[in-house]
Amino acid sequence: MSSFWSWYIAIIALANILACVWLIRWTAKKRPDEVPQHETTGHEWDGLREYNNPMPRWWLWLFYITIVFGLIYLVLYPGLGNFQGILGWSQYGAWQDEVDTVEERVAPLFARYAEMSIPELARHEEAMQTGRRLFGNNCAVCHGADGGGRIGFPNIANHDWQWGGDPEDIRESILEGRTGVMPALGNALGEQGVTAVAAYVFSLSGRNAPEDLITRGREHFQALCASCHGSEGRGNPSLGAPDLTNDNWTYGGSLNAIRTSVREGRRGRMPAQEEFLGEDRVHLLAAYVYSLSAEERYAEEGEEEEQ
Ligand code: HEC
Ligand code: HEC
Repeated sequence: MSSFWSWYIAIIALANILACVWLIRWTAKKRPDEVPQHETTGHEWDGLREYNNPMPRWWLWLFYITIVFGLIYLVLYPGLGNFQGILGWSQYGAWQDEVDTVEERVAPLFARYAEMSIPELARHEEAMQTGRRLFGNNCAVCHGADGGGRIGFPNIANHDWQWGGDPEDIRESILEGRTGVMPALGNALGEQGVTAVAAYVFSLSGRNAPEDLITRGREHFQALCASCHGSEGRGNPSLGAPDLTNDNWTYGGSLNAIRTSVREGRRGRMPAQEEFLGEDRVHLLAAYVYSLSAEERYAEEGEEEEQ
């Protein structure tokens, strides 16, 4: 705020207070002994007449007290333009104090959880309740309340991971964020090439597409896509290149959506949470995300044991 506006506000505030003092003194000038008793203002409703008596003294004093209160307030707290008040109170400071108080209370709790391993924590009921709340407040806007994702935001409640599903991978995804870069290959392939390779990718998840397109598409795929998505299209977690053989899509699995992915490229960004949430909360969230796919994981582990 420039000093002009600061003075402008300060002067208006003080002038208002002075005007109140003047107004009270002016209306209170006539004391009861100076005015004729029982003079009316001439207003009358249904036999009720309004008297023109001066305000009682106690009432007057209340006014003076509020004015003194106002002045003391303006000395102690911010209110006069840029003047901060001698107590140094501020809205931000008050908010920060509250945040600090809460943090002091909950930090030991998160610190205790931080000592447990992620799989251990994922089975800890009370910790997972806190995790669910954190997830609702910080992650659900993008990933959905159940972690199921939506177009452009991956499902993180299944066992199909772009960046790896080990506890440490999940933690790193959240702590440091991720940026997946799928290059736009429309120019390199031409529209027919895009359609062919899209048909091939479409067929990778067990769906039908014209044989000739698949054959041509497979060639394009080996030349242009396999370096990131792997020669069988099973993805590469170190690049964040997704597995294209399951029917799990971030950007949609229709032939058209796949063509758009190839032609225009994709660039999903997971914002790093270290600065916002700190390591201990991220640790708990990693455990919560890990727990979301637990049933699926145990089922898969069970299958592997049977084989
Ligand atoms: C430089 C590495 C790289 C190359 C080359 C590449 N991709 Fe990708 N692709 C990625 C990454 C990384 C993503 C994830 C993008 C994101 O997270 O936003 C992706 C995403 C996709 C998706 C979206 C998947 C979904 O879940 O919706 C499709 C489809 C796809 N790629 C197909 C292809 C095809 C076909 C080619 C070859 C013509 C190709 N990609 C070449 C890295 C690559
Ligand atoms: C602004 C939207 C947004 C928010 C908020 C967000 N995410 Fe993400 N997240 C994404 C996107 C987009 C990706 C995919 C990044 C990519 O394309 O590589 C992602 C990826 C991830 C992954 C990696 C998934 C995989 O398959 O490897 C995890 C784990 C994850 N997010 C967890 C979280 C958690 C936990 C939170 C809450 C602290 C959160 N995200 C908040 C957008 C978001």
